[in-house]
Amino acid sequence: MADRRPKVWVSQPLFDDVVAQLGQHFDLDMTDQVTRYTPAQLAERLAGVDGALITLNERIGAAEIASAPQLRAIANVGVGYNNLDVEALSAAGILASNTPDVLTETTADLGFALLMATARRVTEAERWLRDGQWGQWSFQTMLGADIHGSTLGILGMGRIGQGIARRGALGFGMRVLYHNRSRLPEATEAEVGAQYVDLDTLLAQADHLVLVLPYNASSHHIIDAAALAKMKPGATLVNIARGGIVDELALADALANGRLAAAGLDVFEGEPTVRPELLALRNIVLTPHIGSASQATRRAMVQLAVDNLTAALGQGPDAGHPPSAINAAAVAAVKTGGATVGGKKIDDAKR
Ligand code: GLV
Repeated sequence: MADRRPKVWVSQPLFDDVVAQLGQHFDLDMTDQVTRYTPAQLAERLAGVDGALITLNERIGAAEIASAPQLRAIANVGVGYNNLDVEALSAAGILASNTPDVLTETTADLGFALLMATARRVTEAERWLRDGQWGQWSFQTMLGADIHGSTLGILGMGRIGQGIARRGALGFGMRVLYHNRSRLPEATEAEVGAQYVDLDTLLAQADHLVLVLPYNASSHHIIDAAALAKMKPGATLVNIARGGIVDELALADALANGRLAAAGLDVFEGEPTVRPELLALRNIVLTPHIGSASQATRRAMVQLAVDNLTAALGQGPDAGHPPSAINAAAVAAVKTGGATVGGKKIDDAKR
């Protein structure tokens, strides 16, 4: 048994009362400043700590953990973890975790909110009103596309995708098509009201396409100029997954030339920077990565991350078994001298 209390670094102000639970077992290094860390600052903060509670803005790979021999656990507050080099963490015996499930319905809500705002031009109409243009009204002002009775396409059918499918099929009478790496069991398809199709059929038939797939090497720019050209003319596109899934310049072109009616984006390739080509467009709804941002859900995410970190550092009721570890098997293999670590590098962003 170590004769010192393990140290934990908390990268951002989160919910202090939830984070304070870590103080029962660990010495805490907390901040009250929202901070964007350079790689060198991250390396400096991780050196000398046993565990870290971090957000999606902290990108951690081999360089950032190189001077952190004590580090045993990283708890990511977020379901996507493409900010972590899981292979490097596994090789160093660092247990990584994320926060799935607790954010599923809240993120599906936001996906649907963006879908509706995009199809019905809600934010564009508000800007027009605020600009004092209502006096120019005509019967054809701000005509959008219907949601009820239309075809919803979902690319990526994990938990959040299924939540969106249910909303579309049961709430709005939409015909729901989806494409995913693997097809869902028939009973699940029936429950969420969705039908499996190949990618080209999805692109060709969706009136509204929502992206909810994990970001990795094979989904990078999966929605590029060629994919956009296969979409139904006048369709809308919503991205709540990761910015890198869409070629943003190709999307900006498709929106500028009217090939697509509108888009709604909660995620961007260069977050927090948004390309001027997107900002300049009228027919686009832009939100700053707020998919899981409800009071209750953000608290639940921090609670799950706290539970993960506590357990990963051998404390609390789940000691040794974090509820949502990402690389438990790979870390166990490293610890028992197992030959190959099957960790994944940039992956499984949205489920
Ligand atoms: C948000 O994008 C998350 O992955 O939790």
